[in-house]
Amino acid sequence: MLLRTEGRAFHWYCFFTCFLCILALMITVTDLSLGFGERSLFKDVNLKFTPGNCYGIIGANGAGKSTFLKILSGEAEHDKGEVSIGKGERIAVLRQDHFAFEEYPVIDTVIMGFPKLYDIRKERETIYAKEDFSEEDGLRASELEADFAELGGWEAEAQAGQLLSGLGLDESDYQSVDREKLMSELDESRKVRVLLAQALFGNPDILLLDEPTNGLDLESISWLEEFLMDFPNTVIVVSHDRHFLNAVCTHICDIDFGKITLYSGNYDFWYQMSQMLQRQARDLQKKNEEKARELREFIQRFASNASKSRQATSRKKVLEKLDLENVHVTSRKFPYAGFKPGREIGNNVLRIEKLCFDFEGAPVLRDFNLTVNRNDKIAFVGIEHVSKSAVFDIITDSVKPASGDYYWGQTTSFSYFPKESSVFFNSTLSITDWLRQYSPDEDETYIRSFLGRMLFSGDEALKPVNVLSGGEKVRCMLAKMMLSGANVLILDEPTNHLDLEAITALNHGLEAFPGVILFNSHDHEFINSIANRIVEIVPSGNGKDGGAPGAVIDRMMPFDDYLRDDSVKALRAAAYRHTERLRI
Ligand SMILES: Nc1ncnc2c1ncn2[C@@H]1O[C@H](COP(=O)(O)OP(=O)(O)OP(=O)(O)O)[C@@H](O)[C@H]1O
Ligand SMILES: [Mg+2]
Repeated sequence: MLLRTEGRAFHWYCFFTCFLCILALMITVTDLSLGFGERSLFKDVNLKFTPGNCYGIIGANGAGKSTFLKILSGEAEHDKGEVSIGKGERIAVLRQDHFAFEEYPVIDTVIMGFPKLYDIRKERETIYAKEDFSEEDGLRASELEADFAELGGWEAEAQAGQLLSGLGLDESDYQSVDREKLMSELDESRKVRVLLAQALFGNPDILLLDEPTNGLDLESISWLEEFLMDFPNTVIVVSHDRHFLNAVCTHICDIDFGKITLYSGNYDFWYQMSQMLQRQARDLQKKNEEKARELREFIQRFASNASKSRQATSRKKVLEKLDLENVHVTSRKFPYAGFKPGREIGNNVLRIEKLCFDFEGAPVLRDFNLTVNRNDKIAFVGIEHVSKSAVFDIITDSVKPASGDYYWGQTTSFSYFPKESSVFFNSTLSITDWLRQYSPDEDETYIRSFLGRMLFSGDEALKPVNVLSGGEKVRCMLAKMMLSGANVLILDEPTNHLDLEAITALNHGLEAFPGVILFNSHDHEFINSIANRIVEIVPSGNGKDGGAPGAVIDRMMPFDDYLRDDSVKALRAAAYRHTERLRI
């Protein structure tokens, strides 16, 4: 009996300590509020995030997802309320911008995940690089040496290398024969892995990820899904990718109307639940409207009737209390994307001949040829992501090829949506003034009408462009393209950052476009519904750069047919010398 009681006491003890541990590891958000000018982004948000769970943050473009993550990590301020995190907890972040470390070596980027060590390492290198090494420098160097050793500086590079290889990168990805490679030399799927290694460097207790699947091909996304499912600590991830959210999330936090509502379960569960709540809200609204109509009729009929006037007054009060405004369904909206060419396109569109291009000493394109016809909507697919972007950059005169030529037809005019658009937004111009730069007509109403289609109305159109969210920047770039009147649209992964409503709108806009489109995307449905021709850049298999990309598999057919085509399968097997699964 005694034993049993002791056993039970022990159980309680364990339970209690676990409970305390969970409390200590929890992130608690209390009465959080934030507004920008008139607009309130969050109002009185209360949430708790507990270890072992994966929370998916969802919401329309501009709803405040990235801002919320920045508040959790302490990078952004809030107006009111509190975020408390267990003592000694380490938060690591993978930001929405995958191009922020382009000029840094890959290994350095990983070590930056531990800022204190990174700073000491840098200062140490600078001191040792000095030609006139003073006594003071000597003293500082010895201090730095001690700190460097204590923080594990000697092992850091090896650890970073181990993390990278665990995440599927080869040594050749970060080290060539004579030098360290830079982030700019990696394609986006490798960049994300390096940024994840950065986040994991130093064992975080809480991992915050902002749209990690952007720029990842399908295989890398499944790899990330498995990685997160095995990650034992707290994960909070922003994403618009339904499949990904379903695979990894134990909970969903929906941001809408300045509130963040927590649901248990994955995305599909949230979807069912939100549909049901919306139905209930609509029913309630209908009932309220009916009741209001009856009350109004009664008040109108009997307001001047002395015997019923008291009843009329009391019904007036009921009517005032009836909350017709506050039955919110959803604030998610569809933008409108319509592209009208200024002139019809002629027969000669674009001829590309023997393009060669190297990047940081590595061959990216070898003897690439392509002729584009007037009805083409070409999707560029396959694993050679850097080569695809290089073709787009060259033909839009953004970079110069090493050799080769390209000839645009006389009737053509192009508009380009590059993969990396942040250079366009380093400005404090308002959205309206920003767009005016690209408009043939400077009239305010004309410009505002394009912004309205992209869901920037009223004061929203006066925001400075440097504060825009990822998806809002994409919508601005699309408005710029809509104004261009171009008859050739070139888009390098336009679906990244966009919410589902915006992807659907862009999809429809491009399907209806009567000109030529050259594009790529990781969204299967988007490619399949727009493209009538598929071009896959594959290793060229000739000369001394035999493995360099440049040859093409080229078929006038939709994507699903391309995937099933036996002759394509044979060509792919020969090009890759093994069966390479097609990735986009
Ligand atoms: N300093 C600021 N002044 C005014 N508005 C701002 C400021 N900073 C951010 N915003 C606005 O706050 C909103 C939320 O931005 P945030 O980047 O958090 O959105 P998001 O939900 O991550 O969107 P996306 O899905 O497009 O990445 C946006 O409309 C943005 O323009
Ligand atoms: Mg964002």
